[in-house]
Amino acid sequence: MNSKNFFSKLCSRLKKKFKAGRASAGSAEDADGSDSWNLFFELRTLEVTTNFFSELNQLGHGGFGPVYRGLMPNGQEIAVKKLSVNSRQGLREFTNEVKLLLKIQHKNLVTLLGCCAEGPEKMLVYEYLPNKSLDYFLFDKDKSGSLDWTTRYRIVAGVARGLLYLHEEAPERIIHRDIKASNILLDEQLNPKISDFGLARLFPGEDTHVNTFRISGTHGYMAPEYALHGYLSVKTDVFSYGVLVLEIVSGRKNHDGRLGTEKVDLLSYSWTLFQNGKAMELVDPSLTKRNRDEIAMCIQLGLLCCQQSVADRPDMNSVQLMLSSDSFTLPTPGKPGIQGRGGRWTTTSTSAFTNTSTNTNTHTNASSTKTGITKTSGGNSFVEEYSRNSISYSSIDEGR
Ligand SMILES: Nc1ncnc2c1ncn2[C@@H]1O[C@H](COP(=O)(O)OP(=O)(O)OP(=O)(O)O)[C@@H](O)[C@H]1O
Ligand SMILES: [Mg+2]
Repeated sequence: MNSKNFFSKLCSRLKKKFKAGRASAGSAEDADGSDSWNLFFELRTLEVTTNFFSELNQLGHGGFGPVYRGLMPNGQEIAVKKLSVNSRQGLREFTNEVKLLLKIQHKNLVTLLGCCAEGPEKMLVYEYLPNKSLDYFLFDKDKSGSLDWTTRYRIVAGVARGLLYLHEEAPERIIHRDIKASNILLDEQLNPKISDFGLARLFPGEDTHVNTFRISGTHGYMAPEYALHGYLSVKTDVFSYGVLVLEIVSGRKNHDGRLGTEKVDLLSYSWTLFQNGKAMELVDPSLTKRNRDEIAMCIQLGLLCCQQSVADRPDMNSVQLMLSSDSFTLPTPGKPGIQGRGGRWTTTSTSAFTNTSTNTNTHTNASSTKTGITKTSGGNSFVEEYSRNSISYSSIDEGR
């Protein structure tokens, strides 16, 4: 047998083996009637690969449910996310959304491999990332040393590339809505991959994410216009990205109750230091070898992304440009969006929506095509949505 034949036989055998872990052809049909064998994993396979979802295999537990590590028969490691939170979405809609998400592929995004919709819980199957998430390193004194500045800068740039793809280049625009350190997974070389993109698409009309925010403290990453009024746009992600960049530079969480009032909120503290010309005091002490120019640029970039004025925040295209060009002079950042930070989100009525006095910018930009802002459901239904939840959330109007 010549080598070409040998390899093609080997490939087809491996394919069959991998396929054996998937549901058989025709077990579920997509809305367009096409065969979707490669979309579904059999529940039985996932049970076996995860040791029957044993605690030992559990990688973590987020707002949507637990995540388990599994080993497929072909040797591939996977991460299985059980969507324990109820979704009103039917199987057909779920399948269609997963089909769309399967097309969203980029080196800085975690690869979705498929899903499982047998049994009571729906599940998503992802590639497994061996180094867990950024928070695992960044906020641990013993581990943060392994993230030197070069690695951190690569992470800052990689997340920017992934977000730019989601916002501008993917087959369908995706606003992530939950950019934070635990949603940045790291590969063997500590390259970043954004996880959980498009999850909100699987929960249309649910307030799951509101709960997620409460549980995980994600609100520290939330742009004020989204947290308080439900205005969603690509700039919502830009804001969260800015907070993440400040965390990467400082090696601390965006909210740290153990620190004094002045320092408790990272964004406010960064702004104060920046205004007083002391921005470098923000830098993580565990960073021994520093690139001062890059670090100063990242602090300024973080603050630019977190500006109160939605229109003044750069889009990810500009962020990418700032990060890749030596000669780019960054504008001076304006006031950050710190409204509502530092405490619990307590807005419970539509009063915040109607109170425009402190949010002229946000409201002005809400209809602006420049920022691409979409009100959650448009018109009056937005107010209804808003009043149903203590933190407003958006429907899935993420079209371009
Ligand atoms: N593909 C993966 N590979 C390796 N580890 C993963 C993977 N996906 C998730 N994890 C781990 O599981 C943990 C829990 O993930 P999960 O997304 O459920 O929670 P979260 O990111 O903290 O919150 P949220 O539900 O808001 O995203 C993550 O912090 C990460 O350490
Ligand atoms: Mg996550």
